[in-house]
Amino acid sequence: MQAKTMKPAQHARWEAAAWNPSYAVGNDAIDADHERLFALFNEFVAAVNDNRADTEIQGVLADLLEYTDYHFDREERLMREFDYPDYADHKAMHDAFVAQVHDVNSALDAGGEKGAYVLSVLGKWLTGHILHVDAKVGTWLKEHDAAKAA
Ligand SMILES: [Fe+2]
Ligand SMILES: [Fe+2]
Repeated sequence: MQAKTMKPAQHARWEAAAWNPSYAVGNDAIDADHERLFALFNEFVAAVNDNRADTEIQGVLADLLEYTDYHFDREERLMREFDYPDYADHKAMHDAFVAQVHDVNSALDAGGEKGAYVLSVLGKWLTGHILHVDAKVGTWLKEHDAAKAA
């Protein structure tokens, strides 16, 4: 049976994704969630880079998934509460992402390339979605006096 597959090939290390204040969308609760998601993603990257045990890597991943669900619920609730016009499209993106991320568990037992792909997709999605999709929600909330809404 093939051994761990999320572990990097020799000498290869996954890049951590640094939180940057310019990622702030302007709603305090959403911004705090995003910062926490980066921290959890980086814990996941570190666990893989350090060649930790499968069970530990899966535990870190479970934390990341759980917080992602929690955050999406909050963001979707705020969008509904403040009648955000692109709610349906935004929720569809969240749903597609959740489905994709849940494939990570099977990637743990698949090939190394699949694991590598999944890790890189996660990091890119996080940054891209915040900058291009969540930013619009943040603007909407600020325009509706909801910068402090949580
Ligand atoms: Fe979002
Ligand atoms: Fe978000």
